[in-house]
Order: sequence, then structure tokens, then C-alpha cells
Amino acid sequence: MVRTSSESAALVGRTLVTGSAGFVGAHLLSTLDAAGFEVVGASRAEADLADRSAVVALLRREKIVTVVHAAGRVGGIAANVADPVGFFTENLAVGQAVVLGAHEAGVERLLNLSSSCVYPRDRSRLVEEDLLTGQLEPTNEGYALAKLAVMRLCDWLAATSDDRWYRTLVPCNLYGPGDSFDPVRGHLVSRAIAKVVDALDADASAVEIWGDGMARREFLHVRDLARAVAFTLPLLESLPQALNVGSGEDRSVNGWYEAVAAAAGFGGRFTHDLDRPVGMARKLLDVSRLTALGFTPSTTVDVGLRETITHYRTFCTQAVAA
Ligand SMILES: NC(=O)c1ccc[n+]([C@@H]2O[C@H](COP(=O)([O-])OP(=O)(O)OC[C@H]3O[C@@H](n4cnc5c(N)ncnc54)[C@H](OP(=O)(O)O)[C@@H]3O)[C@@H](O)[C@H]2O)c1
Repeated sequence: MVRTSSESAALVGRTLVTGSAGFVGAHLLSTLDAAGFEVVGASRAEADLADRSAVVALLRREKIVTVVHAAGRVGGIAANVADPVGFFTENLAVGQAVVLGAHEAGVERLLNLSSSCVYPRDRSRLVEEDLLTGQLEPTNEGYALAKLAVMRLCDWLAATSDDRWYRTLVPCNLYGPGDSFDPVRGHLVSRAIAKVVDALDADASAVEIWGDGMARREFLHVRDLARAVAFTLPLLESLPQALNVGSGEDRSVNGWYEAVAAAAGFGGRFTHDLDRPVGMARKLLDVSRLTALGFTPSTTVDVGLRETITHYRTFCTQAVAA
């Protein structure tokens, strides 16, 4: 059955987006709002989302029908390696409080955002059936274990209740305007943009890449993830418990740097620091389930990179701000 956007918005009802001041949450708010959904944000200003009673009070006060859970602690490989305890405990605390708080408040519909880090490290193509069937990548094990625990909470609540449609989307790595370009928190694409643009501004002739650059990574523009959330929210009842969301294509780390260099107009060379951690050799989501539902991403890499470079130049570099 094809629903109109107003029918979808009415079915989904008043929707709370957790982590709404963050990179993904901010895009979710604007995309869902533009698609006609009635959305409310929840950042630290509204509540400590690791406090279950505060979550329950917020959900009741706002008369929330649907929750999209996008709050948590997110970081790049260096941050994850440095603090596995923090990534595990904080993501578990927030996920547990939000999911159990939603259940306690009688919220029937919840879409939890996980991450492709939850897949076993030895698979080249990541299929939903492979979840919890192998060893995790050690460089982000704390984060992944917390994400898996929250996914299972959603599964168990959905399985033991007739009126809890708690599902999880598993997005690949994301990039886009509003991403973190920080050396510790940032991911591959945002860091490549920062390093290449900074090199251009400093007239530097070389940019350093961590590792040999042969590891392969899939990235999706954050707006396409937000569109996927808007697409799946009205379908929660018929969704599988876990659904991958990605572009379906990957590139080597070197390939991402080359694409950023082309989009930014950097003609210098790349060097490699072989002592740095590189993570999994390949992380490519199988998106056939999502494609079969009728969703495809719409932002090309070239357009997405140019837009993100403009954002970095406008909001994040000293040269332009001055
Ligand atoms: N970014 C990616 O590439 C990516 C890829 C796949 C999946 N995801 C998932 O998408 C979600 C959002 O990621 P993101 O990149 O948007 O991260 P982000 O920019 O760091 O946003 C997360 C937000 O959650 C908030 N938060 C954390 N703990 C909180 C608490 N106890 N109470 C209230 N707010 C809290 C943070 O607030 P503070 O800033 O105040 O701490 C932040 O605003 C995460 O679940 C992540 O696993 C992200």
C-alpha cells in the first residue's frame, strides 16, 4: 500500500529525535520536519538521556508517539582505542534509558540507530543475518558491544509485546555538513576534507594518510540516512528487526582521499603513516533488503563532498572566518 506523506505523518505521530543537537540528529529534525512529520528534539538541554526517569518524564510531557534514537557518544578510531570503557558505558546507559524509558512510557514505535561497527570483523560483505555470529573489531569493541546490547533490547521488547514496534537501522559511516572535523572525533571523510583543505590553505604539498590506505570503507551522505529514516518510520510494523542503510558501494581510504582532493582542487601528494591503526580491512553493508523496500540514496559522492567542503570552509577554518 502506498501512503501519502500526510497519511504517513499521521501514522507516525508526534516524534522525538534523541541527540537532536548532534550531527545526525540535526539532519533528522530538518528532514523529518520537511517531510511533514511532527518532530521534537531532545538534546542535553531537554534531559540527560542516560537518566531513565528523565526520559519517561520527557516522553509523557511531550505526548510522544514515536522515538528515533540518535543520541550517543561517537568518535573516530583514535577516540575509540583510547577509551573503550567510556564508549561502552555511555552508549549502553543512553540506549538503555531511552529504550526502556520509551517502553515504560507506553511508546509503541521506536527506531534505534546502530552502526556497521556491530558486524563481525572477518566478513567482507555485511548481511543482517550475520549479526552476533563472530568476533568484533577490537579497535571499536566497546562501542559495538553497547550498540549490540541496545539492538537486542529492542528485539526482545518487540518479541515479547504485541504493541512494541522497536526496530534498528544499521547505517554505514556517514559524512556531510555538520560532521565533526576534529582530529580525535572525526571519521575518515571529514578528516580527509580537513587535512586536504588545511594543506591547500597552508600551501603544503603533501597530506598524510593513516595506514597504507588500502582498507575499504563505505560512506553515505547524512541526508540520505535522514531520508531513509523518513522512509522507514511509517513502515516499522513490517520492517525486519535490523535493516542496513548504506550506499552499497565502497572505496579504499586512498580512493576517498583522491576524491576529496579532486573535489577540493588539491594537486599535492599523499604520504602514509604505517604505524597508525587502520581497523577492519573492509566494511561494506549488504543493502539488498533496503533496496527491495524501494529506497535508494540520492546524493552523489561528488556533490556530497563539495557540499561538505563548503561547510568546512564556511564554518570550520580560521582563514575563511577571519
Ligand atoms: N556519524 C556517523 O558516521 C554515524 C555512523 C553510523 C551510525 N551513527 C549513529 O548515529 C547516532 C548519532 O551520531 P552522531 O554522529 O550524530 O553523533 P554526535 O554528533 O556526537 O551526536 C550525538 C548527540 O547525542 C548527545 N548525547 C550523548 N549522550 C547524551 C546524554 N546522556 N543526554 C543527552 N544527549 C546526549 C550528544 O550530546 P553532547 O554533544 O552534549 O554529548 C550529541 O549531541 C549514534 O547513535 C551513532 O551510533 C553515526
